[in-house]
Amino acid sequence: MTLDPNLAFARRMDRADGLAHYRKRFVGAESELVYFDGNSLGRPPVSAVERVERFLREDWGGRLIRGWDESWLAMSGEIGDRIGRALIEAKAGQTIIGDSTTVLLYKLARAAVDAQLARDPARHEIVIDTDNFPTDRYIVDGIAREKGMRLRWIDVDTSSGVTPQQLAEAAGPETALVVVSHVAYRSAYLTDAPELTRIAHDAGALILWDLCHSAGSVEVKADAWGFDLAVGCTYKYLNGGPGSPAFAYVREDLQGVLTQPIQGWWGTKDMFAMGPSYEPVPDIRRFVSGTAPIVGMLAMEETLAMIEEAGMPALRAKSVALTSFAISLAEEWLAPLGVTLASPADAEERGGHVTLHHDSMREVTARLWQRDVIPDYRDPGGLRIGLSPLSTSFEEVHRGLAATREVLREVLTERAGLA
Ligand SMILES: Cc1ncc(COP(=O)(O)O)c(C=O)c1O
Repeated sequence: MTLDPNLAFARRMDRADGLAHYRKRFVGAESELVYFDGNSLGRPPVSAVERVERFLREDWGGRLIRGWDESWLAMSGEIGDRIGRALIEAKAGQTIIGDSTTVLLYKLARAAVDAQLARDPARHEIVIDTDNFPTDRYIVDGIAREKGMRLRWIDVDTSSGVTPQQLAEAAGPETALVVVSHVAYRSAYLTDAPELTRIAHDAGALILWDLCHSAGSVEVKADAWGFDLAVGCTYKYLNGGPGSPAFAYVREDLQGVLTQPIQGWWGTKDMFAMGPSYEPVPDIRRFVSGTAPIVGMLAMEETLAMIEEAGMPALRAKSVALTSFAISLAEEWLAPLGVTLASPADAEERGGHVTLHHDSMREVTARLWQRDVIPDYRDPGGLRIGLSPLSTSFEEVHRGLAATREVLREVLTERAGLA
């Protein structure tokens, strides 16, 4: 029997892949399980297992409270700078890790609107799109209520995202802040970040970027694109583990101007002076509130080292090749069964995942999980396939899409039988 040409292609791509050797550095990647959710929770790096154990025994167990002075106090800023350098092209001193994305979104959005309203009380609107990630929408809704502001919604199609024209129509003299996801969590639409930033600035607004689905999958140039503020997850393409702390970027010249609302001792000029009142340090540390979650930072350092070594351009190139392969298989195998693409077809407009639409996808996802093929499901009818460039192989994509075809055929046959 001749080999399926798609499988032959996948094997050729794996052999030619300069990043293929990273795959074995992730727990479980060599098994038959197909993991299509690295954009939601990345696999653990093998070296993190040893790192966490060593930390518990030697660093925490051996150094005890001395660990804070010896290294832990500086970790949020040091890892932040590494994320700045390797993932989002931000010069040192502008990126820090600490709380969850949700909490950092709140702190930065609230700091931004406070500063804008103080400068110009007419700026009483926050612009956000209807398909932004729920937490982003809920956070700005809460802030709008706290501050007596208004939300201006940009209505977007769930298989695409915010365009420059839409933002140009929504932003104006009443806009305090614009909140946008660089890569849309549902469709993977990759916004034109430099252009949207320029439009927000021309309107006199600040812009807060959600980089959760970008960091480690697409290139970001925070400084060159003129970002004001950004947040991003570390448990997706950075493999930090469930609940690992998020990062925040605040442009250098805004740091002294913005005051965040959760005034904790870790953000003060001299935290061990234990002074009578809150006096924020004038640098990026002022956006931190309390004790840093050190254990949650260990695993991501292992992936960071791999990204530093491989470089974002190589990761993005592989990510594009993986999503393009997934789309071509979906067109050949799934489109005849009624599946449509709910992500941009043009790789230039697409991040690191692909969403395939069919009204049976909820059922298909549940059955795939039982067969150790793990995508996720997002309404309406979206099978979301996240392809992490360090840990996913082309053959894995082939195996996963072949299983999807089999399961979808099964579901459709059962349905036809019931009709
Ligand atoms: C785009 C986006 N923003 C925000 C969040 C929320 O992050 P967290 O639950 O860490 O606060 C997520 C989580 O998946 C996300 O995908």
